Amino acid sequence: MQEKLNEIRQSVRAKLDAAAGSASIEDIRVSVLGRKGELTALLKGMGKLSPEERPIVGQKVNALRAEIEGWLERKSAELAEKEKEQRLAAETLDISIPGEAVAMGNEHPLSATLEKIISIFTGMGFSVAEGPEVELDKYNFELLNLPKNHPARDAQDTFYFNENILLRTHTSPVQARTMLSQKPPIRIICPGRVYRADEVDATHSPVFSQCEGLVIDEGITMGDLKGTLDTFARELYGEGISTRFRPSFFPFTEPSAEVDVTCAACKGKGCRICKGTGWIEILGAGMVNPNVLEMCGIDPTKYTGFAFGIGIERVTNLKYNVPDMRLLFENDLRFLSQFGKGRV
Ligand code: PHE
Repeated sequence: MQEKLNEIRQSVRAKLDAAAGSASIEDIRVSVLGRKGELTALLKGMGKLSPEERPIVGQKVNALRAEIEGWLERKSAELAEKEKEQRLAAETLDISIPGEAVAMGNEHPLSATLEKIISIFTGMGFSVAEGPEVELDKYNFELLNLPKNHPARDAQDTFYFNENILLRTHTSPVQARTMLSQKPPIRIICPGRVYRADEVDATHSPVFSQCEGLVIDEGITMGDLKGTLDTFARELYGEGISTRFRPSFFPFTEPSAEVDVTCAACKGKGCRICKGTGWIEILGAGMVNPNVLEMCGIDPTKYTGFAFGIGIERVTNLKYNVPDMRLLFENDLRFLSQFGKGRV
């Protein structure tokens, strides 16, 4: 009998040591203590024992039973704890993993330059006027003193839809539209896209951007133009920058000038960027031709005005030292991402 009890004790111990889950503990319990369990069978067989043996064996069986129950309890608590730990480890949300970086864009250098130009002029009291890119010949050329077959049209060849509809070659038609619809005083800038039938190279593109300006009032002189453009150049490039006017020709202004600004790279001393001259050409300007005023319904004996046209790509490339205009249009992120703090 004692042997049988030892055998049961050892086999239960071995099974418990090998048990891997709480379900197998229950199987072990049933196999020993269940209705058909080994220990239960021993207890049932007690009737066959002599009255003297019975209490001794009964005691031993009960002792083993208590011991096994203790083991079962401990083992199942141990396994339940382990399973809980495993579950917790598997379900943990690891908030220490770095998040997905949000790709931040940055402003295009052309837009940044245009915004700056607009803010300088609106600061001087100009307002922004806009007009269509598909324009009538009348506004783009005729009202600006460029009648059909005028030779100066050659310098601004463009894309025609038909004889009278074209892609505007400058934003000056917005000025003509404004003069026709508003009474002086007029003080506007006209930013926007313009088009010319030009071959693409480092300084030319069939699509580019301008910001033109127009001021009309009584007593406006070339001195006002010079003062306005000097202020603009200083605001854009910094102290010590001024402008230089060289005589030029535009059919819509008289007199006309090509306007240079002090080279910001060498402050006028002369360097590679300004080809040793100390000056860089950035715009065309002049006093509005009286013919234009008259054609646009403004009395030239009462009013005078000035106009100017700035090439945004040129100003941008000078500002950021970009050698080729095509870089501004190619949308290569390796180029564009250099202009912002954010990553593109
Ligand atoms: N419209 C001219 C151009 O595009 C620029 C300009 C504007 C020149 C106003 C003088 C006055 O070339």
